[in-house]
Amino acid sequence: MDFSVNTGALATSDTACLILGVFEQHKLSAAAQVVDDASGGHLGKLLQSGDLNGDAGQTLVLHGVPGLVANRVMLVDCGKAEELDRRVFDKVLKAVFARCAELGLTQATSTLAELPVAGMSFYQRQRAVAQAAAQSAYRYEHTKAKKPNARAPLAELALWVSPDASQAAAEQAAVHGRAIAAGANLARDLGNLPGNICTPSYLAEQAGGLADSADTFSVEVLDEAAMSELGMGALLSVARGSREPAKLIVMQHRGGQDGEKPVVLVGKGLTFDAGGISIKSAAEMDEMKYDMCGGAAVIGAMQAVRDLKLPLNVIGVVPASENLPDGAANKPGDIVTSMSGQTIEILNTDAEGRLILCDALTYCERFEPDVVIDMATLTGAVIVALGRHPSGLLANDDALAEALLAAGDAAGDRLWRLPLWKDYDSQLDSNFADMANIGGRDGGAITAAAFLAKFTKKFTWAHLDIAGTAWITGKEKGATGRPVPLLLEYLLRRCGQVSE
Ligand code: BES
Ligand code: MN
Ligand code: ZN
Repeated sequence: MDFSVNTGALATSDTACLILGVFEQHKLSAAAQVVDDASGGHLGKLLQSGDLNGDAGQTLVLHGVPGLVANRVMLVDCGKAEELDRRVFDKVLKAVFARCAELGLTQATSTLAELPVAGMSFYQRQRAVAQAAAQSAYRYEHTKAKKPNARAPLAELALWVSPDASQAAAEQAAVHGRAIAAGANLARDLGNLPGNICTPSYLAEQAGGLADSADTFSVEVLDEAAMSELGMGALLSVARGSREPAKLIVMQHRGGQDGEKPVVLVGKGLTFDAGGISIKSAAEMDEMKYDMCGGAAVIGAMQAVRDLKLPLNVIGVVPASENLPDGAANKPGDIVTSMSGQTIEILNTDAEGRLILCDALTYCERFEPDVVIDMATLTGAVIVALGRHPSGLLANDDALAEALLAAGDAAGDRLWRLPLWKDYDSQLDSNFADMANIGGRDGGAITAAAFLAKFTKKFTWAHLDIAGTAWITGKEKGATGRPVPLLLEYLLRRCGQVSE
């Protein structure tokens, strides 16, 4: 998607569709007022008809508006001005770009960033517009014939800037929005691909494709022999149940000073989770192809970090494996030794994510990280606790937790923190090993994090449980690209490219 910044007069703007906001059926936004004046009051008169009903996201497309060069005008209702916040704004943007897709528009001009949205700066509003446009143009096309009447998605969006707003902020928002959306769309593509195509080796190849010749971005893939050498007994025990060899993907972006401690992102890359011997029931098991969405988010975020040349050292680590039942698979009661030396009694082979993550987290010690953030579709329990709106956040450091919560709010990719109190630890006690891999029904998302916490004592760490947010179930089934927007917001703030 191409973005341009448009500071010209709206009436003479040569565009396929001029997108304007209105409030409560007929109250014109500032840009809509300018266009209304140029059209001799055409818009105002039309809106008296009551075609918009005041619901945020309702759209009305007009042709032949007098006094304008634009081919069409799209009016979008934004509801009550005083209720316009990030959530409503995102809803409006989604509706607008869905309508553009319906109309088969390949070009449009948005004035929507001029709308006052509670808690959002002009830069943030403009970036939200750019991201929403680029994410709505995403199509999954790998394994499906194109419909013969399929329209081309939006390819060019002009971001209009009123005379009193900052052109530089809009330009920066366009650059950032484009890279973030591309990263999220890459994560969606990897998530949506089926398990028979998107294997651990496939993920490794895709990550490898991000490497540049300048050596500011490099990719290394550890195979099972290398992992065995490192003593990754927990990770490899999961991989033994599968014919697809496991991979540990390590991506490094060297944008910061030499010796500056890196931010390390770790993502669960379980390319298909049947549960292993503790096999899952058949219903919706297909959705377990999404169990690599944490890894996909890390790969997508690393691409965005590379594209934006962020002045930071960032490392992405993706442990990738399948979890299947097999003669060599983990059995309930088996005890494995992790890279940390701690032993684990596997009471349920379906709690495999923590087994591959714990060794990946121990591996991170070698980077002497400033912070480590892992993300994983780790538990069904986080969906029971929080539903599908926020990702679960658990952390061993309040400052990191606060920074991530704030970044999530600003990016419209929200988190909700759960406690990581020592009180939960006893649920992981085992009679035969240093810990069990499950902690019973109570607080399942928390005990999963409590398990990981046993492997992150040496650094500042946060865990994002994205089981409820990484994909949408039901008719609109598909990967969302979350938490790529949150991660980039956090990193952009860290290097001062975005103010808090
Ligand atoms: N990948 C699943 C978690 C999951 C479940 C994600 C549903 C999205 C939707 C994970 O590997 C798993 O199976 N977790 C178990 C843990 C349990 C055995 C302690 C779960 O949540 O049931
Ligand atoms: Mn599982
Ligand atoms: Zn899993």
